Amino acid sequence: MPKPHMCPPELFQQDLSGKTYVVTGGNSGIGLVTVEQLAKQGATVVLACRRPAEGERERERITAAGAKGRVEVAALDLADLQSVRAFAENFLKSHDALHGLVNNAGVMNTATGKTKDGFEVQFGTNHLGHYLLTELLLGALEKGAPSRVVVLSSCYHDKAQGREGHIDFDDLQFERRPYDGWAAYAQSKLANLLHARGLAARVRDKGITVVSVHPGWVRTNLIRASMPVWAQDYLLRPFLHLAGMIEPWEGAQTSLYALLAPDVAQHPGAYYSQLGMYRDKRFNKGGWPMESPNPEASDVKVAERLDAVSRKLVGLAQPG
Ligand SMILES: NC(=O)c1ccc[n+]([C@@H]2O[C@H](COP(=O)([O-])OP(=O)(O)OC[C@H]3O[C@@H](n4cnc5c(N)ncnc54)[C@H](OP(=O)(O)O)[C@@H]3O)[C@@H](O)[C@H]2O)c1
Repeated sequence: MPKPHMCPPELFQQDLSGKTYVVTGGNSGIGLVTVEQLAKQGATVVLACRRPAEGERERERITAAGAKGRVEVAALDLADLQSVRAFAENFLKSHDALHGLVNNAGVMNTATGKTKDGFEVQFGTNHLGHYLLTELLLGALEKGAPSRVVVLSSCYHDKAQGREGHIDFDDLQFERRPYDGWAAYAQSKLANLLHARGLAARVRDKGITVVSVHPGWVRTNLIRASMPVWAQDYLLRPFLHLAGMIEPWEGAQTSLYALLAPDVAQHPGAYYSQLGMYRDKRFNKGGWPMESPNPEASDVKVAERLDAVSRKLVGLAQPG
């Protein structure tokens, strides 16, 4: 089994005092480790989550462990655009500049359902909520430049449990085709990758670098709609490790690299992949960065169309 890619240790020696980061879904899994590491290095980190009491518990734990920086907990439900707007408004009231936004929160293979605004749950939560959030924070990211946006995609943007990643512009919300939880996840994760690619081109001259990430197959709560978390964490854990599952600290490496490594600024719009599962097995070793084997992921027209459609769906005016 190949070893996961790890950040060079000097990345974690950087002093991040005076820098501000937002991590969505910061109360759990990969997001929580990301918050913890940034706070350890002296940053102010906004732990954005839909269950603030849970976030508060983690904030207390991180503070008690002696983190040099500060963790602030803020309510954010990405499945409710009103909540996204309220989060951004509150953030902008109390912060001037933002140095890094990590669009980390996500759901996978959920049962059919709609967000508060009527979008298919995975597309709405994983992509559209983050799309609006990012647009609302662009001004702060420009003030914090050089700054970064890191979007958590997945190797499942290529193929998820047999379903090929594809943006179906004729039926984004699964209204005309039967709902399939894995196809919806694959579409949402391809949207994440294309979001990074499209936005990177738009904001490059503003000093904001945008990239996407596959964090690896990581032992987190993400699995809960497909298998009981206790079965993953206890019963099956040794077997899943043998099959390639990694721990959250390893799973946060790609996000932290994308956020902190100087060379990432030379690769706007790129895709950074931990070990993964791709249609073409030659890609399974990942790469920081690497080309996606899914041809749709590098199709500029698809990225531009998704950008325009997403803008309209979240109620933002078209540019120009
Ligand atoms: N784990 C993997 O193997 C893997 C592989 C590829 C990609 N990823 C990606 O990595 C990212 C992080 O996932 P994870 O593995 O760390 O899973 P996780 O432990 O389940 O964390 C997901 C986070 O997203 C939050 N979230 C879900 N719906 C939300 C909503 N409507 N509003 C705000 N927050 C919401 C969750 O909040 P609650 O705690 O309240 O549910 C949780 O904090 C996801 O984007 C996922 O697609 C993970």
